[in-house]
Amino acid sequence: MTILKLPLPDDFHVHLRQGDPLTDYARDMSRQFGRILVMPNTEPALQSVETILAYKKAITSAAPSLEPLMTFKIHSGLSQADLLAFKEIGVVAGKYYPAGVTTNSEDGVSDFESVFPVIALMEKMNFVFSVHGEEPGVFCLDREAAFIPKIKTLAQKFPRLRIVFEHVSTAEAVQAVLELPPNVAATITAHHLTMTLDDVIGDSLRPHHFCKPILKLPADREAIRKAAFSGNPKFFFGSDSAPHAQAKKECAYGAAGIYSAPVLLPILVREFEREGALNKLDDFIAGYGADFYGIARPTKKIELIKKSWIVSNNIHGVVPLAAGETLEWSLL
Ligand code: NCD
Ligand code: ZN
Repeated sequence: MTILKLPLPDDFHVHLRQGDPLTDYARDMSRQFGRILVMPNTEPALQSVETILAYKKAITSAAPSLEPLMTFKIHSGLSQADLLAFKEIGVVAGKYYPAGVTTNSEDGVSDFESVFPVIALMEKMNFVFSVHGEEPGVFCLDREAAFIPKIKTLAQKFPRLRIVFEHVSTAEAVQAVLELPPNVAATITAHHLTMTLDDVIGDSLRPHHFCKPILKLPADREAIRKAAFSGNPKFFFGSDSAPHAQAKKECAYGAAGIYSAPVLLPILVREFEREGALNKLDDFIAGYGADFYGIARPTKKIELIKKSWIVSNNIHGVVPLAAGETLEWSLL
């Protein structure tokens, strides 16, 4: 039996939701990850010390082995005192959502420049600036490319700000990250690494593959794969695992988000192995992200075994990525 020993990975982009489901989602993450960057698009959003601390406590009570790295949702009303208070409780990043681009972002930023003072403070206080880089109102497949000028503006205006272009989905975004200085990095998801728009609408309509940013063209996926397998420290793993109950996906106005948590490591190992890039996997899942966030690399390990299993069609009421498919690597 082939066994693969990996560092216990970090996931730098995760949605855990709230209430009872959070327990299941957090436990699913804790089976494969040590630390996770928790997204703040809850209801209410993570925008105060109280909500952030309560949310962190809910996560660690549900999954004590998991270390949540907390974020706040950026809005123009945040003061220096707010940010100082976030710093004091160990918050690591602020997330910028353009208004209306994705799940629970109606309260996002509608005037880009209105948050410059907050971003200036974030730069000064050394918070990571995490950004959902899509321009609202533009044709859906062009939204990410249309947002790139804003990333460039931020990189120029705030040269010491660490910027993470989240879940890059286009060749243009990959290229922009490559060209910008080292303080601009990107996360890559398992689904953008493996699928295209064909997997959403090419044959049947596959609502469980519908996510933001929308899966793009084969050339985009190729650029993302090249970036992930290249060993460039600007690209690291962030799953954007985003569970929605089956009924919320299988309806007339389906929610955006893919529940990838239960299958992440088996899929990543498969892809890196296929590409002959297994030697690049450790840095991608447990190196470059930690380095960029300025935290120690993980020391714990996790083992996978080459033994096939069939992914369940429904996990806690959610249809996961690769439902019903056979994966060749299992968690030991
Ligand atoms: C995410 C969600 O459901 O919270 N959805 C998604 O399609 N990725 C939000 C996000 O990261 O865009
Ligand atoms: Zn997300």
